[in-house]
Amino acid sequence: MFRTFSRCRLLGTLLSALASCLALPTLAAPPAFEDTIAQRTLACTACHGAQGRAAPDGYYPRIAGKPAGYLYNQLLHFRDGRRSYRLMTHMVEPLSDSYLHEMAEHFAALDLPYSAPSPVAATAQELQRGKQLALRGDATRQVPACVQCHGTALTGVQPGTPGLLGLPRDYLNSQLGAWRSGQRRAHAPDCMASIAQRLNDSDVSAVSGWLASQPLPANPKPARALPAPLPMECGSADAPSSSAAKGGRP
Ligand code: HEC
Ligand code: HEC
Repeated sequence: MFRTFSRCRLLGTLLSALASCLALPTLAAPPAFEDTIAQRTLACTACHGAQGRAAPDGYYPRIAGKPAGYLYNQLLHFRDGRRSYRLMTHMVEPLSDSYLHEMAEHFAALDLPYSAPSPVAATAQELQRGKQLALRGDATRQVPACVQCHGTALTGVQPGTPGLLGLPRDYLNSQLGAWRSGQRRAHAPDCMASIAQRLNDSDVSAVSGWLASQPLPANPKPARALPAPLPMECGSADAPSSSAAKGGRP
């Protein structure tokens, strides 16, 4: 993980230059530059993999094909301090709500294949516990099953809930850890914060190990709706925050 982070730091210098291109796409354009959203998001794909399809063998999360409302919320979370990753915040800080929305729509619309899962170091018992949490939850700790919100196939649900497959285990661990410590927040009521706080260290490791070892189903797209109501209220699940409603940047 450290190697990934120091590589990020090196990239940082280069990317702060690229970030200004993102903010001023037309001024920064060299003569042959096609001013398309795919070109303008090349700075993003330096970390998130070609076309945003980072494989699960590193730390960077794949962004291609995630629900647009979810992606948009995350860009706002980084920009407005509800998620902290310096380089991400730095990139999105100068950008308007409408530009963030355009980028979210661009990555969400990409329909690209997924890599096979990476091998995971976990015992059979850990994987069993992870599977139990994901598919059935743990009533003794009031933890609903992940499938109740992330979709029966765990590929996410429109418009605001992401899938949990095809992501690096380190990334999943770190996000659940960040919710437990309050470093990552979503719109209130923040159901993921409550759920993460009900999990202990070994639960987090078990569920992230099981999720990271699962292949994507034949149809990897987010579901349009859930078969039953959410087991808890989530401020982020239904309504991606609209810039007009929240007085965001034009
Ligand atoms: C220097 C590498 C880097 C660059 C460049 C970068 N990102 Fe990220 N991005 C990350 C990392 C690392 C994370 C996860 C951070 C964390 O731990 O929360 C992330 C998280 C995200 C997320 C949240 C994903 C999820 O599943 O919750 C989105 C959306 C995102 N980035 C979009 C973008 C876009 C759009 C751009 C271009 C404007 C971009 N990123 C540029 C490294 C980068
Ligand atoms: C009550 C509904 C609900 C349940 C149950 C639930 N989640 Fe979530 N989860 C969400 C929502 C909504 C988000 C999006 C939050 C945001 O906008 O940041 C989310 C986001 C996440 C993310 C961030 C993904 C990314 O790409 O960064 C992870 C990881 C996650 N959930 C793991 C889990 C696990 C593991 C379980 C089962 C133990 C679980 N969730 C159960 C609603 C739920």
